[in-house]
Amino acid sequence: MIPLAVPDLSGNEALYLQECIRSGFVSSVGPFVVRLEGMVATIAASAAAVATSSGTTGLHAALTAVGVGRDDLVIVPALTFIASANAVAHCGADPWLMEIDPVSWTLDADRLAETLESSAERRETDGRGGERDEPGSSKATQERVIHRQSGRRVAAIMPVHTLGAAADMEKIVAVAHSWGLPVVADGAAALGSLYRGKPLGKSGADLTVFSFNGNKTVTAGGGGAVAGDDLPLLALVKHLTTTARVGEDYDHDRVGFNYRMTNLQAAVGCAQLERLPALLAAKRRIRAEYDAVLSEIPGLSPFPDPAWATGGCWLSGLFDHTTREPSDLADKRQALRREGVDARPFWKPIHLQPPYRQAPRTDLGHTEAIWWRILTLPSSANLAAEEMAQVIASVRKIWHSLRVDAGETPNR
Ligand SMILES: Cc1ncc(COP(=O)(O)O)c(C=O)c1O
Repeated sequence: MIPLAVPDLSGNEALYLQECIRSGFVSSVGPFVVRLEGMVATIAASAAAVATSSGTTGLHAALTAVGVGRDDLVIVPALTFIASANAVAHCGADPWLMEIDPVSWTLDADRLAETLESSAERRETDGRGGERDEPGSSKATQERVIHRQSGRRVAAIMPVHTLGAAADMEKIVAVAHSWGLPVVADGAAALGSLYRGKPLGKSGADLTVFSFNGNKTVTAGGGGAVAGDDLPLLALVKHLTTTARVGEDYDHDRVGFNYRMTNLQAAVGCAQLERLPALLAAKRRIRAEYDAVLSEIPGLSPFPDPAWATGGCWLSGLFDHTTREPSDLADKRQALRREGVDARPFWKPIHLQPPYRQAPRTDLGHTEAIWWRILTLPSSANLAAEEMAQVIASVRKIWHSLRVDAGETPNR
């Protein structure tokens, strides 16, 4: 079976792991952790980065650092991996699920602005402030954004850089600033991608979170990183992820987390990051080849390529306009698997997941029309030319055998 996304570990990974064993630095401190943080900051063009045990824990720590707490709401696009919503829930908050733009599959900035205008209001309260409030500071006149229907505080916006391509950050950040809301971007698969020609650290988010999970373009076996320009905020993230320890002894000034990346993980991560340009180039080449073929097959179209983004092309695949219901795509997936091609469906939206069925939401018509028409195809950076040819031949064979009639296809 040609796999969906497996790591390419052909660089210095083994050498650096041996170095960890030789030096004894195998746990949560060590030179590779420091080095990885520096590399991520450089790639994202951020002032600093904090390595974490996963993307999910990075998101949790980032949200906590910007002040998300119990009973708050965090704006999240409905089309995302469940970890985005879980990180919100780990704060004791709930996602406020919003619609995606049907062209980019990322948070719809115009709908975001409209929804806040129609469903939220600013209120002066004496309530709890963010994590960054100085002890003893007056919160008497603090302005909060309140979700009108529930009376709950809206504490942050979390755009997601879907498939490694940036959301439209300029617009999203403008809305966030106009409401005084922090932005924590879920850039799990987007390390190395650009927004309007600039690295993601310059996209206006307060914090951007990356993942080094095994299926990502660069992996550390598992792990994450939080990047940003606000050094005190990054210091708070570091503090939170390292048990909120003060000094050398067993003093801790708050409830922190053990969300540290180990030196072993970072060793793999550093070796991968050294080859990021080559890995990204391979991913982009795969996307271009699939896109060229798919544009010739009636009823199929390629993945989004938003004008503002130079995406990382984490996963590539097809959007099938001919699919009438989710089971149709499941049949095609099985047909591809019989051909030896590991095709997969994409994220099932958050409001359809049992833990989030009650989450507040906007109209999600685009999300509901899109997610079950997406099929991801083998996209490993080390996908061999023969494997690519086999995937393409299988897609052609299956869709042609279905006698797709472009004239009957919806949305095209
Ligand atoms: C959009 C998105 N957010 C968050 C995550 C979570 O990252 P991790 O698996 O490193 O916890 C992932 C991927 O796994 C993801 O794709």
